[in-house]
Amino acid sequence: MNKKIGVIFGGKSPEHEVSIESAKTVCSVLAGSGFEILPIYVPRSGGWRLVPLKALLSGSALAGPVIEPSFAGACFVKKNGACVRPDAIFPIIHGSTGEDGALQGLLELLEIPYVGCGVAASAVGMDKVISKDLAALDGLPVLPHVVVRAHQRASMGPLLTEAGRLGFPLFVKPVGQGSSVGVSKVKNLSALRPAVLNAFRFDTTVMIEKGVDRAREIVCGVLGSREGAEASVCGEVVPKGKHEFFDYDAKYLDNDGMQFLLPAPLSAGISARIRKLSVRIFFALGCSGMARVDFLVDPKDEKKVYFCEINSLPGFTSHSLYPRLWEKTGLKPERVLRKLVAIGDRSMSARRRLNTARK
Ligand SMILES: Nc1ncnc2c1ncn2[C@@H]1O[C@H](COP(=O)(O)OP(=O)(O)O)[C@@H](O)[C@H]1O
Ligand SMILES: [Mg+2]
Repeated sequence: MNKKIGVIFGGKSPEHEVSIESAKTVCSVLAGSGFEILPIYVPRSGGWRLVPLKALLSGSALAGPVIEPSFAGACFVKKNGACVRPDAIFPIIHGSTGEDGALQGLLELLEIPYVGCGVAASAVGMDKVISKDLAALDGLPVLPHVVVRAHQRASMGPLLTEAGRLGFPLFVKPVGQGSSVGVSKVKNLSALRPAVLNAFRFDTTVMIEKGVDRAREIVCGVLGSREGAEASVCGEVVPKGKHEFFDYDAKYLDNDGMQFLLPAPLSAGISARIRKLSVRIFFALGCSGMARVDFLVDPKDEKKVYFCEINSLPGFTSHSLYPRLWEKTGLKPERVLRKLVAIGDRSMSARRRLNTARK
């Protein structure tokens, strides 16, 4: 019998629509390689729905019976009481509740094998401070930064002065957001406080990071497990026109906001270094399955490479960076997805074998 894969998509996240597009690719490619697909849609309002594959692929309304997770033998219970039992889950919800460990925690409790990073790595990957601090502990290159936490908000003056000493430009970001939401480039001390207050609208912790002016943005895909992983070729994202950095508009609103250079025009040595760094970061953060690791490179000196962030559930639309990086490396999306499902299976089996008793 064909393996049944539940693909969970949508979610309460600014990347809801991107997730639907990612799910279309994931479902059609997996269906084409012989898996039975159960598309599970999570509307913004909540309440999971089992939708027909045809409706998803044709862009029709995403309607279907409400389903609920059940702890009885890893099944989902449909509205009418019938039990749906996926052999594995492919979560493809980007951002909060899908990429931050919340959904992964539920799948752990249900004991269903799933694709991608586990609870801790997902949560760590979503937090820009924790992920950078962990990477730095492992000797990986990160830019200096100052962190302002909620309890310091009313008396942040000394922290702003400390950040100012790093030199301008500075980048101010909410630590747990994505898509450049709440991110500002700050060019002088007087603009710093408003930028921090703006970032506090999106998170309870704000990072002020030393900026690399007009940084080159290099991305690299990692695929593997905790036992071994490989890096794709590197790509370069170039914000175009009026965009000084890769802001929300350049990412989503401006059709001509960016250009993707594949492979990235870097010397062979730097490219090889970034690929190695990507795999080291993947291991340092305890990742499994996939991740896209983003770097900032000094436009005046390509040897100055800094870890920017990690995405543990990168976009999977037909024009998304992660599948394109792998295609350029020689792995078609079908192979990437098959590998991801197999890694998810193996990781869950390995965890099940761990001793849960004292001896
Ligand atoms: N330290 C920095 N120096 C230069 N540019 C930066 C820096 N930090 C962020 N940026 C710019 O802001 C964008 C968004 O920041 P990033 O840390 O990737 O957050 P997000 O998770 O929102 O994508 C980056 O793609 C880059 O264009
Ligand atoms: Mg980013």
